[in-house]
Amino acid sequence: SDPDPLQDFCVADLTASPSVNGFPCKAASAVTAHDFSSAALSGKGNTSNAFGSKVTAANVLAFPALNTLGVSMNRVDLAEGGLNPPHTHPRASELDIVLKGKVLIGFITTGNVYYSKVLTRGELFVIPRGLVHFQRNVGKGDALIITSFNSQLPGAAVLPTTLFSAKPSIPDGVLSQAFQVEESVVDDIKAKFGS
Ligand code: GLV
Ligand code: MN
Repeated sequence: SDPDPLQDFCVADLTASPSVNGFPCKAASAVTAHDFSSAALSGKGNTSNAFGSKVTAANVLAFPALNTLGVSMNRVDLAEGGLNPPHTHPRASELDIVLKGKVLIGFITTGNVYYSKVLTRGELFVIPRGLVHFQRNVGKGDALIITSFNSQLPGAAVLPTTLFSAKPSIPDGVLSQAFQVEESVVDDIKAKFGS
């Protein structure tokens, strides 16, 4: 859903300041075939964390040739039982392919309907733009998903961190009222996110 390009390519000059939409182009005379490939997704992400998951991004910041082209990809590594927590992408729909393991993928519509499916190798699932979604490894051993986006920089608002580890912190009263729990519960959750 990014704007259409007005030239064949515009490899980002990440040292220049971003302009309104994306980055200025590196001089075409300095562009080589090397610019159009990337090893950004070649390594397994480190899943040794509280969620047991790691998202590695190949967006315009990691792969400058994507600038102006309206596409990007992530790899999502999930340890056994791992969760990529509920989040949304304000600027893109997301198309997932499971490459390894057994994964529960779900999203929730703005009408509060939950759609989900357990997927295995080779199966696809699509997340409509902006909707809250997650992936959870429900099989034995590691799982791997490749996710792709119709934006060079889809953005991600990860609900637990957005709500409980914003800087500065969202007032406890707002969260206790929103979730209808005591402020001590809010403090417990904030503490888990180092806030
Ligand atoms: C998975 O949902 C991702 O955003 O890569
Ligand atoms: Mn996502």
